[in-house]
Amino acid sequence: QISEAEVALFSVSSYACQRRTTLDNHNSNLTDALSLLAENAELNNEDGRGVAFRRAAALMKALPTQVISMSQLRGLPCLGEHSLRVIKDVLENGVSSEVESTKQSKRYKALKILTGIFGVGAKTADRWIREGIYNLEQLRHSGQTLNRAQKSGLEHYDDLNEPVTKAEADAIGEIVQKAVDSVLTGSQVALTGGFRRGKLTGHDVDFLITHPEEGKEVGLMPKVVAWLESRGFLLYQKTTRNSYLESKDGPARPASNMDRFERCFSIFKLTKGKEQETASHKIWRAVRVDLVVSPISQFAFAVLGWTGSKLFERELRRWAGHEKNMSLSSHALFDNTQNKYLRATSEEEIFAYLGLEYIPPSERNA
Ligand code: CTP
Ligand code: MN
Ligand code: MN
Ligand code: MN
Repeated sequence: QISEAEVALFSVSSYACQRRTTLDNHNSNLTDALSLLAENAELNNEDGRGVAFRRAAALMKALPTQVISMSQLRGLPCLGEHSLRVIKDVLENGVSSEVESTKQSKRYKALKILTGIFGVGAKTADRWIREGIYNLEQLRHSGQTLNRAQKSGLEHYDDLNEPVTKAEADAIGEIVQKAVDSVLTGSQVALTGGFRRGKLTGHDVDFLITHPEEGKEVGLMPKVVAWLESRGFLLYQKTTRNSYLESKDGPARPASNMDRFERCFSIFKLTKGKEQETASHKIWRAVRVDLVVSPISQFAFAVLGWTGSKLFERELRRWAGHEKNMSLSSHALFDNTQNKYLRATSEEEIFAYLGLEYIPPSERNA
């Protein structure tokens, strides 16, 4: 029994971008359960359900203490009927029966294994499952045609499913910096993604590249990629050119969350330090790396857009649209009321335009 005094009633804002979410999670038992159901929904192309579970998980991540009783959740936003049922199950029984049965299900296991291949999304995995393919062994013997990304993904499956450490991210950062310096002096490299938020591991390493002189960044990516390729640093790369200028629907339209920067999805060949060498004596490992080039005029928006978390970004755009009548993208911020673009050279300025308290990267772990 808990006395009234022990029941802390939390007051929490409803948008994740109004909250400070550090990596210090006091409710991982609950957020793990909700995140797994979110992931399962996403793997089944149920995006609405996925977002609902992500929002509920993010809300729980932002609570200052561990929740031990349902009564503590009274009045909190973002918790739908389904999420509350899952939370109740975990609080009362230690586990959620829905989570447990999902984890055990043949379909979930297969979706996890197959989408664990770089280049394989939920739709491809679903098609393979319908054709009776549930694991890598069956895929290898199926005669399915794989594209270049998927072939690489399958070849480096174990490495790419091994979390990347901060030390590895820094080592790759030095290589990228060297490449960029060599092809265009004065260019800048910024580490973005989860590592910028202070995470100790990640599924990849994200970098944003720019040059202080507008226009100098044009044509930079192919040169950087050529430099890296010629020195044997790339096991795979696919570069997509900038389509921002020729896009007709306007830069800040939130219709597509995908930005249009020139980007490179790659797999790096990272030489291991002596202490990381394994029994197999393989002296290198494969690491997923994303490179993005932005003109300096859009850099603040690009840094904000590529720092994440994905839910934090989604909530920023929702806040901008619903509360401020503005459209935010990784390129720009457009004020639909004033009918004009709002220029910014720092993330702080963008939060200020949006009427939000500044949240530093380490507190965007929603
Ligand atoms: N992003 C994007 N467009 C993509 C892929 C990613 O704008 N096509 C953004 C995401 O919104 C996110 C950031 O890039 O804010 C980093 O994405 P990702 O690497 O997938 O996630 P991380 O938060 O870095 O997590 P992890 O540590 O697992 O890599
Ligand atoms: Mn704390
Ligand atoms: Mn990342
Ligand atoms: Mn990434």
